[in-house]
Amino acid sequence: MSAAARPRVVAVAVQKGGTGKTTLAAALSVAAAQAGERVTAFDADPQGSLGAWGALREGGEPLVDRVRPWEFAQFAAILAQQAEQGRTLAIIDTPGASIGGVAALLRLADLVLIPIRPSRLDLMAALPTIEVLAGQGMGERIALVLNQCPPPPSPRTGLYAAQLAGLGVMAEPSILQRVDHQDAVALGRGVTEHAPGGFAAAEIRALWGWIDRRIGRSTRA
Ligand SMILES: Nc1ncnc2c1ncn2[C@@H]1O[C@H](COP(=O)(O)OP(=O)(O)OP(=O)(O)O)[C@@H](O)[C@H]1O
Ligand SMILES: [Mg+2]
Repeated sequence: MSAAARPRVVAVAVQKGGTGKTTLAAALSVAAAQAGERVTAFDADPQGSLGAWGALREGGEPLVDRVRPWEFAQFAAILAQQAEQGRTLAIIDTPGASIGGVAALLRLADLVLIPIRPSRLDLMAALPTIEVLAGQGMGERIALVLNQCPPPPSPRTGLYAAQLAGLGVMAEPSILQRVDHQDAVALGRGVTEHAPGGFAAAEIRALWGWIDRRIGRSTRA
């Protein structure tokens, strides 16, 4: 029997707290599951926020699991098991602080999504993450996404998108600050479950579509 293909892997990462890694990991996991992927959302942050979100859910898809720091080095084997179980996509939420071994997870990612709030301090704080990944030859596998953007007509989103475009590929669309995201997470839902007709849900579905196209259908060896 030939080995099952490895699931595609999206890691959400930046060594800066509070940029929306967990919020986006939760929302994208649900949106991708609704689009037909068999998703496992992995919480690699010892803080456990995504795992706590998963515990509020009533089962079903996506699956939500923890991956502990001592398991990071074995994540390739975990992905192989996921493949055997028919999972097609792993979305990994990572810690905002530096934790040894996270690099081992990111190396297995088809895409590292780097959420950045449109502020000078957040842009500066994201630079080390971008530089480290680029220095490891992963420059083609990173995408930056602006999150918690102010509503139009603020020029802030466009100004920061232009600056960030010089640092890496920009995922689209930028995600606005909306209470639907906060309410959805509080209830253990994806925003596309909580307010499926809302703007926040539409943005998340579009962002999943962008990621899906970016990483393609084929899996990495
Ligand atoms: N698009 C958004 N709209 C509104 N609120 C948001 C949005 N994204 C994130 N938030 C809020 O910002 C705060 C930080 O989000 P979150 O916990 O997802 O960030 P994080 O990067 O995972 O943080 P940490 O580094 O601590 O793990 C939370 O209160 C969350 O509800
Ligand atoms: Mg988090």
